[in-house]
Amino acid sequence: MDLVVEGRAWYKGKLQHVCIGIENGRIARVKKVLKGERQLDFNDRIILPGAIDVHTHMREPGMTRKEDFSTGSVAAAFGGVTCFFDMPNTKPQSIHRDDVMEKKELASKKSWVDFGLFGGVSDASNPQRIADQVVGFKIFMSSTTGSVLLSEDKDIRRAMDLIKPTKKVVSVHAEDEHLLIKREEASIRDHAEARPRRAEASAIERLAQFSQQNKVNICHVTSLEGLEALSKGAFTSEATPHHMLLDIASCGRKGFCKVNPPLRPKSDKEALLAAFASGKISLLASDHAPHTVEEKEQEFDSAPSGVPGVETSFPLMMALARKERIGLGVLIKAACETPAQLFGLNKGAIEEGKDADLMVLDPRIVTSIVPRNLHSKCGWTPFEGQEAIFPQAVFLRGQLLVEEGGLVGERNGRDVVAKRRVAA
Ligand code: NCD
Ligand code: ZN
Repeated sequence: MDLVVEGRAWYKGKLQHVCIGIENGRIARVKKVLKGERQLDFNDRIILPGAIDVHTHMREPGMTRKEDFSTGSVAAAFGGVTCFFDMPNTKPQSIHRDDVMEKKELASKKSWVDFGLFGGVSDASNPQRIADQVVGFKIFMSSTTGSVLLSEDKDIRRAMDLIKPTKKVVSVHAEDEHLLIKREEASIRDHAEARPRRAEASAIERLAQFSQQNKVNICHVTSLEGLEALSKGAFTSEATPHHMLLDIASCGRKGFCKVNPPLRPKSDKEALLAAFASGKISLLASDHAPHTVEEKEQEFDSAPSGVPGVETSFPLMMALARKERIGLGVLIKAACETPAQLFGLNKGAIEEGKDADLMVLDPRIVTSIVPRNLHSKCGWTPFEGQEAIFPQAVFLRGQLLVEEGGLVGERNGRDVVAKRRVAA
């Protein structure tokens, strides 16, 4: 055994004191007692599978003033995220094969944690040409930061039919473009009115017809209407920490909390957190969408939509788990197990044969979020002052990557989908 990591691990659905034996980057044995060449004893601290964030915007290529694969993946690592999926709304968009391959090259060189790339879809592209290189496809039903729109049913149908034989997940930004109100906005409240809850519910209802033939995943659900609409189809769904912890009243500073879909009133926030706590939401996803302070400080109407969150996502939810607002099992399911199962990764659980992606936390150490302690290039967070439990150690495939607030390992992030091949 190369390495044995010992502590109170999430194993077979509960916390138990075990030894995790690691060989060649994988979990080889889990037993009460194990001896390895190296032994790390975390005593009564808890060991969880690394989180998988299925929705991030790492901004490379084309917008590296906001973030890049290096800074974004370091932020991920410090937040216990050992694998992230990157969205296609970069410059260029990840729609055509050459552009996907180029992004993959960049991420492979720069990422500190494992990653998957989402492919974009336009009304004229053929998603089958990139299916072997992407972890899933992303469809934007409404206009948002840098998106390629598929707002009409006929275009969505064309895309879904082409994607069907690839069996890939289709993650959809579900807001109905036809129900958005285009007018000047001066506040978070205006933004929420311009992108109403009805638009979310309507988009989800329109997607129900595809949910039998495709694996349709509804991104960032925000509202009670949206939650109700989910029952109309066979969907998986995501919730973000910002929609579960922030609302239109909690965020005054200019356009900093402007995000799509928007923050909602307190009642929706509470309904969403309750739905998450009851296990009705499949996935915890940050929708990490960093923009610079300068961009966010513009007049509200001109400020871009999106908030950072890859580093704070799991730690914020872990603090809620400590207070028993959500169950630890529900959190691990949504952040680790279900993402791995849905996207077919050999990760997401402490089990023999899985990648040894682990985080170690001390639930007694609750900190308050401070922007300067975070690692995203954007340098700010909408969660300043909120309670969080950050991991003290993070392992990627058995290699220690984060230890006591510092980066200690080597840059070794890998694509979870396919080995790089010569472009067809
Ligand atoms: C995202 C971004 O900035 O890339 N913005 C956002 O408000 N969530 C785009 C998106 O997913 O809508
Ligand atoms: Zn997004």
